[in-house]
Amino acid sequence: MRAMTQDDVDVVLAIEQAVQRFPWTRGNFADALNSGYLCRVDETESGGIRGYAILMPAAGEAELLNIGVAAAQQRKGLGRAMLAEMVETARAKQLRRVFLEVRSSNIAAIALYRSAGYSEIGVRRGYYQGANGSEDAITMACELMGESNG
Ligand SMILES: CC(C)(COP(=O)(O)OP(=O)(O)OC[C@H]1O[C@@H](n2cnc3c(N)ncnc32)[C@H](O)[C@@H]1OP(=O)(O)O)[C@@H](O)C(=O)NCCC(=O)NCCS
Repeated sequence: MRAMTQDDVDVVLAIEQAVQRFPWTRGNFADALNSGYLCRVDETESGGIRGYAILMPAAGEAELLNIGVAAAQQRKGLGRAMLAEMVETARAKQLRRVFLEVRSSNIAAIALYRSAGYSEIGVRRGYYQGANGSEDAITMACELMGESNG
């Protein structure tokens, strides 16, 4: 993966709008870049962006704010690989854990996070606006520091 730039936002936004039920706006991506969050894209050798991920470091931990894979590239291991790379980046920064919030209906993402070692640590009832009312947010976390190393 490489760092996302403002020039990537058009392509990233097109993927986001195609794959997310409640997509981020252009402004959300611009803000993430301007705030210095870890914004990464996965690119093919020919230069096409296939996926992206955004991690916000804060107070010794990091929140995964967004991750997306282009529809035609899904289910090939890219989401898992990008998630692992973001976690390694957090680990290299000595962060204690990565956490995230996910819609309770997002079966694919929840399965990905579980299989990558995230566990559910909480539920925010009715946190998200959904198509038919509100929807729960599930908070999941992955601890980066074992007892042996701090
Ligand atoms: C979630 C997402 C990033 C996964 O990316 P991906 O590249 O397709 O995922 P992978 O191929 O690495 O799959 C890893 C694991 O996730 C789970 N998974 C992925 N897609 C799934 C699906 N449609 N249904 C059930 N489980 C799924 C599986 O456990 C899978 O492992 P397996 O293929 O060995 O069974 C992708 O589906 C996506 O972009 N979704 C829309 C955006 C989104 O919801 N982002 C998360 C919230 S911000």
